[in-house]
Amino acid sequence: MKELSLHILDITQNSIRAQAKLVELFIVESTANNELTIIIKDNGCGIPADRLENITDPFVTTRTTRKVGLGLSLFKAAAEGCGGYFEISSTQGVGTKVVASFKRDHIDRVPLGNMADTILTMVMSFGAADLIYEHDYNNQLFVFNTQEIKATLEVESLNEPDILNWIREYVSEGLKEIQEMMEEALWQSP
Ligand SMILES: Nc1ncnc2c1ncn2[C@@H]1O[C@H](COP(=O)(O)OP(=O)(O)OP(=O)(O)O)[C@@H](O)[C@H]1O
Ligand SMILES: [Mg+2]
Repeated sequence: MKELSLHILDITQNSIRAQAKLVELFIVESTANNELTIIIKDNGCGIPADRLENITDPFVTTRTTRKVGLGLSLFKAAAEGCGGYFEISSTQGVGTKVVASFKRDHIDRVPLGNMADTILTMVMSFGAADLIYEHDYNNQLFVFNTQEIKATLEVESLNEPDILNWIREYVSEGLKEIQEMMEEALWQSP
């Protein structure tokens, strides 16, 4: 895929299909460690141990519309093709965790993509499920939490044009800020 955000959307849709009420997305970028790691955690139905073994095999799917599932296998191939690694762990009735790590400067590492638009798409497609998104850019942290926003605005759903516009701005500005803070810190260091 052309952007990592497309993988993220795809994997979080698995979580929603698994009836997750909360999806947590962690992105850790470290230039010093040359890594970009994406962690997606949910509290959905989980995957039985016997299916987990070969879950990244494209022929493993619970879809009835077609016989192959590609989301996990493509994400794994992308990470491993960039000198990184892929892990999936799951407990039935508890949830699932997917980790994909990339060598940040690997020539085949595609860009992350527009996270503000990605978060917006997730919020719009999540229904009642909540999202916590934490982005750590060289130890500068941006946090977005739909539970907190719903509580502050005293609303049940964020799926309103005004709120969605605000979310796009908030994420876009927040990510710009952690990038700038990091660059400033670099300039000021001796
Ligand atoms: N977070 C999850 N919770 C529970 N089951 C999951 C989760 N993620 C994946 N699965 C199971 O693993 C299977 C394979 O997932 P994968 O994303 O690779 O393919 P798919 O979702 O079936 O199809 P595609 O992603 O190509 O639309 C799914 O059909 C589903 O049964
Ligand atoms: Mg999928």
